[in-house]
Amino acid sequence: MLALLDLPPECAPVASALDAALARVAARFDEHLATDLDAVDDLLAHLTAYRGKMLRPSLCLLMAMACAEDPADLTVRDEHITCAAVVEMVHMATLVHDDVLDEADLRRRSPTINHLRGNEAAVILGDYLIASAYALCSTIADQATSLAVARASRTVCAGELLQLSNRGNLDLDEQTYFQIIDRKTGELAALACRLGAMHAGATPARIDAADRFGRLLGQAFQIQDDLLDLTASPDTVGKSTQRDLDLGKLTLPLIRHLAACDRPGLARAHIRDHDTEALTRELAAGGAIEEAREIAGTLIRQALAYLDTLQPSAPRIALQEVARAAIRRDH
Ligand code: IPE
Ligand code: IPE
Ligand code: MG
Ligand code: MG
Repeated sequence: MLALLDLPPECAPVASALDAALARVAARFDEHLATDLDAVDDLLAHLTAYRGKMLRPSLCLLMAMACAEDPADLTVRDEHITCAAVVEMVHMATLVHDDVLDEADLRRRSPTINHLRGNEAAVILGDYLIASAYALCSTIADQATSLAVARASRTVCAGELLQLSNRGNLDLDEQTYFQIIDRKTGELAALACRLGAMHAGATPARIDAADRFGRLLGQAFQIQDDLLDLTASPDTVGKSTQRDLDLGKLTLPLIRHLAACDRPGLARAHIRDHDTEALTRELAAGGAIEEAREIAGTLIRQALAYLDTLQPSAPRIALQEVARAAIRRDH
């Protein structure tokens, strides 16, 4: 995420504090997963060789800095490092499983586990990651952390199940789409922010604001992801694209397009026939892509308003920048 941020000079100390903290998160992540079995460690080595953007750990750590009693003091607590690693582990588990569901070959510019080792290995590796995440968060004494992680993971799975039950549903409405993205993506970003605030000793009102900021940011991030899936190339995003369309997953631009186009029957036929070229032409001629971008922009503006409850500080500026980057990104 750091590479995608356009931080002003006054944020340089925050950027280096974040960098150092993310390195500790990556180390905790790797140490906690390691086993004494080469067969498992080989798979893990493949996973951890390709770090993603580390969005969720970055949210947790920056929120921790922004909620500290003195936001000029950029040190984070050991609990924050653990929470950030836990959230990234849950995220990684969902990606490993999601690539099985989406029959995807490419992730983080590298072959997916299912592509390399088959669905069985990917399913069990995802289980290993999720179990490891619970073991790691249980090392934090207070039960509130484990409970929050467990509840959020349950919600993410429920969102994926809701999405799965709507595969091929070309009448998917916007309300259900938002229920899906709130659960599958909003929830984990909200958790990252909530844990950051909670372990910085923030008031309940600030913890709630942190959660809402993360949730709205996560939803906008997913809309951008859905736009990239439709419009970008695997080379740019580093993962398989057009999977949503191929697997009959309607996303916001398509829902908007079907609601507004002159010939929705024809558009549905294009989706059913996987006629991506015709659909891309139709989408380019209509306004649905722009509408989806605008909705993501509105969500980010709403998210930013929740940061107003925090005192002005360099970590707060960095969080604002993360929010803007979530919808500006090309990968
Ligand atoms: C991908 O998340 C899954 C979505 C929620 C869209 P990221 O884009 O954060 O994935 P990595 O961790 O950077 O690879
Ligand atoms: C996000 O959905 C997956 C989860 C939150 C589990 P996508 O299916 O859009 O994610 P990508 O595009 O494969 O990364
Ligand atoms: Mg996917
Ligand atoms: Mg996607």
